[in-house]
Order: sequence, then C-alpha cells, then structure tokens
Amino acid sequence: MTPARVSSAAGSLWFASSWWAASKGEGRVAPMTVRCVEVYPDAVHLQGFLSLEAQRRLAEQCHVIGTGPVGWYVPTVRGRGKMRVEMVCLGYHWNARTYRYQATRDDHDGRPVPALPADLSELAREMAVAAGTAVEPDVCILNYYGPAGKMGLHQDKDERPETLEAGLPIVSVSLGDTAKFIIGGFTRAEPKTMVPLASGDGFVFGGRSRLRYHGVAAILPGTGPATLGLEGRYNLTFRQGAASQ
Ligand code: SIN
Ligand code: MN
Repeated sequence: MTPARVSSAAGSLWFASSWWAASKGEGRVAPMTVRCVEVYPDAVHLQGFLSLEAQRRLAEQCHVIGTGPVGWYVPTVRGRGKMRVEMVCLGYHWNARTYRYQATRDDHDGRPVPALPADLSELAREMAVAAGTAVEPDVCILNYYGPAGKMGLHQDKDERPETLEAGLPIVSVSLGDTAKFIIGGFTRAEPKTMVPLASGDGFVFGGRSRLRYHGVAAILPGTGPATLGLEGRYNLTFRQGAASQ
C-alpha cells in the first residue's frame, strides 16, 4: 500500500502509513503521522514510521529469523576482525570477506541464504515512497546490536554499479534501543551529523547521499519500548542490486 501525503510543513512532511495492517491482511488501521526530516539532500529521517504494534510484530519476526536454522552469526570483516553486531542476510548474503553478495553463506556456514519475505520488501517500498524515492529490494541485512554494539564508519558500495550510479536508496528500519547513527560526507574526514534512530524510525538515503559515510557510534541501552521485550536493537537495511554479480 502506498502511503498518502496528508500535509506538509517547513522542513517536514507528514504521511499516513498502514503498512503492517495491509501486509497482514488485517484491513485498515488509523493512519500514522510520520515526521520526515531531510538531514542531507536525499537523506531522509522518517520519525515514527511504525506504530508500536507494528514494531512489536516486526521485532518478533526478526527474533524468529535470527534464532532460526539459518540465523545469527558474527561476521569477520576482511582485515578488521569481528564486527560488533550479529547478522542475518535475507534474499542474498553479504560476504564480509569478499564484500560481495552471493546465494550461500560462504564466509560462515555455507548454507543457502533465507528468502526475503514479501511483507518486508513491501515495508521497504513504502518507506522509500514516504521519503520521495523508490526501491525494489532484493536483499535485507538484519543486524542485532547488543548494548555494546556499534558499527564503524563505512560506505554502502557493494551493490551493482547501476544501483550506485542511479542512487537507488538504502532503506533502514530501526527497532528497540535508540542508536546514535552518524552520517557525514564522501570521505571519512568530513564533518558528521548524529541522528538518533529510535524504535520505529526509518532512514532512507539515496540519490545525492547514496555514498555518504555512515556508522553507529553507540546504542543507548534501555531506551526502546518495553513492550518489544528486546534488549538492544534490530536494524534492517534493504538494498536493490545484490543480484547478478
Ligand atoms: C548499516 O550501515 O549497515 C547499519 C546502520 C544502522 O544500524 O543503523
Ligand atoms: Mn551501511
């Protein structure tokens, strides 16, 4: 379901979102209001995109995926040791040693990567539209951050060259404890902005911001909604252009 733009105000736009109800066949729910803040050109923070109930159910889905037979593992990155997150890829696997996408988890257990569920793709599409862009995701990287989790500054540039040239966006969804998300310029040294990504927020960066350096400086323990029963944070990043490498 495409979200409807219901009004606009200086520096922010408001949308109605009913993703979860639509994807679960539960009919319409009261429209959500979402505050859209453009942090950089084409880098949009969607504050409060998911209702608490949608967060709860998505967190449960993440838990089931992560604790399933092809679940969490801690990637070891080429030359930089173990990452500070637990990861599961859906649709395609991001190989932390080769920085390429593939169908099996060759840098971990060699198992075939789980499919990307249709309702998750739909969520990513809807968030992209809310941010004024579009994506047809073929991969989702689901990360779990414990209380000490973090992610170093990096660019997302492992998708197909056509994806990067077209500026097709990364769509990020956060659940649980708030993250101090850092985003800056096109070199590591450029000034950075801290964006607090709270539970239920989206962050969409494409176009002129597709290759900005970004990372997670820290998780703020105990800041997520208690009803999720989640210590730490889930983050899902959807990408287009993992296929046919
Ligand atoms: C990532 O850059 O891949 C993850 C960002 C986040 O956890 O917010
Ligand atoms: Mn990234």
